[in-house]
Amino acid sequence: MKLSVIGCGYLGAVHAASMAELGHEVVGVDVDVDRVERLSRGEPPFYEPGFAELLRRGVDEGRLRFTTDMGDVAGARVHFVGVGTPQRESGYAADLSHLDAAMTSLLAVMADHPVPGALVVGKSTVPVGTAARLQEWCGSEGVAATVVWNPEFLREGFAVQDTLTPDRVVYGLPEDRAAGEAARDLLDEVYAGVLSHGMPRLVTNYQTAELVKVAANSFLATKISFINAIAELCEATGADVTRLAEALGHDERIGPKFLRAGVGFGGGCLPKDIRAFMARAGELGVDQALTFLREVDAINQRRRQHAVAMAERHFGGSVRDRRVAILGAAFKPDSDDLRDSPALYVATRLVGQGADVVVTDPIALPGLHARYPHIQTAPNARAACVDAELVMLLTEWTDFTGLEPDQLGSVVKERAIIDGRNALDPARWEAAGWSYRGMGRASTT
Ligand code: UGA
Repeated sequence: MKLSVIGCGYLGAVHAASMAELGHEVVGVDVDVDRVERLSRGEPPFYEPGFAELLRRGVDEGRLRFTTDMGDVAGARVHFVGVGTPQRESGYAADLSHLDAAMTSLLAVMADHPVPGALVVGKSTVPVGTAARLQEWCGSEGVAATVVWNPEFLREGFAVQDTLTPDRVVYGLPEDRAAGEAARDLLDEVYAGVLSHGMPRLVTNYQTAELVKVAANSFLATKISFINAIAELCEATGADVTRLAEALGHDERIGPKFLRAGVGFGGGCLPKDIRAFMARAGELGVDQALTFLREVDAINQRRRQHAVAMAERHFGGSVRDRRVAILGAAFKPDSDDLRDSPALYVATRLVGQGADVVVTDPIALPGLHARYPHIQTAPNARAACVDAELVMLLTEWTDFTGLEPDQLGSVVKERAIIDGRNALDPARWEAAGWSYRGMGRASTT
């Protein structure tokens, strides 16, 4: 089937390549010329395990192409829309300008080249009410298309797996029953290769589908901030949050995942999604329902600030001219994404306070050089740690968690480490003569 994917950022590019992998003929559209050229050559514009192979196969076998020209989507039966919905420059609300711009040009093409039963399938994370607005917009332009809201739950680092074998698939359908049923059947055809894995496929109205996505991300953010709040208690009392989380996680009602205390959550999704959700609740007059998310956000900010304070305390108050090695720049391992990265927050704060900071990351250094040319970098952990008076582990790449304490100890000036992700074994590092401090592990501070 001929499909289009509009917006070839993280979500869109992986979705386009995955749909081509399922055997569809896919055209990906993006306004970024450089990105389109790279994708057309089969080169991933970001780091994502497994994506390069999929992309190359799709492009080489002629099922997948990329363009900046919206006109090329003419004739497709299904148009997936996966453009970014970042936080607005002022305030918490989502910026829908990319979505609206994409829809304006898509609807113009669809009006000129009508395809009976065509679908516009929204995948971006949007404020509740957006799908209904877009369906109305189609009508007002005289475009006979059905809008479906089909949120995406992919995690960076697992994007291909999460797209081709997701935990669940959600279709938000319009009120018009006949149009909804036809849309559902067509989408089932598109996703036949995904649905064959037997995951639940839930059919809801628009509002529910839109809310599932932000509710899921809010829950994940809340779980992380919950354990980080408990980490503060652990610090005040001498408890160890990693042992506590382990004990909590054995309760099946709670589960062990997303209970890793540390410098908190970052990235292009959780932080901006909880803020946009609060903003939307305010517009709907139910802001009180989500005031707890303010606290989730505040706890999260406090943990990264706490890591900076730990470094200051290590040096007796001032980090000026002190050499600090920072292991990790990306917001999480297996990603080169620097958006709202706690590691980068700590690095830039310490640089701002006059510390002599060297950052290393297995994948994210090119992006770091481009955006933060004033930050010193080193190609690997050993090089970053030469003469360091303090080492801070802030992104738990296996390159770092597998480090040998004695070997690293031979290059540093002082054997002192702050483990901002609680990813190291304190006993092992202490046995090698390191002063080890974790987050919420007061017994070892
Ligand atoms: C998140 C969601 O997990 C996806 O389901 C969702 O589709 C995606 O946002 C999105 O909206 O597009 P992602 O941002 O890739 O995915 O990253 P996560 O794996 O959720 O991690 C987010 C942050 O939380 C990272 O900084 C990570 O280090 C941190 N984290 C995670 C913790 O601090 N502790 C944990 O226990 C788990």
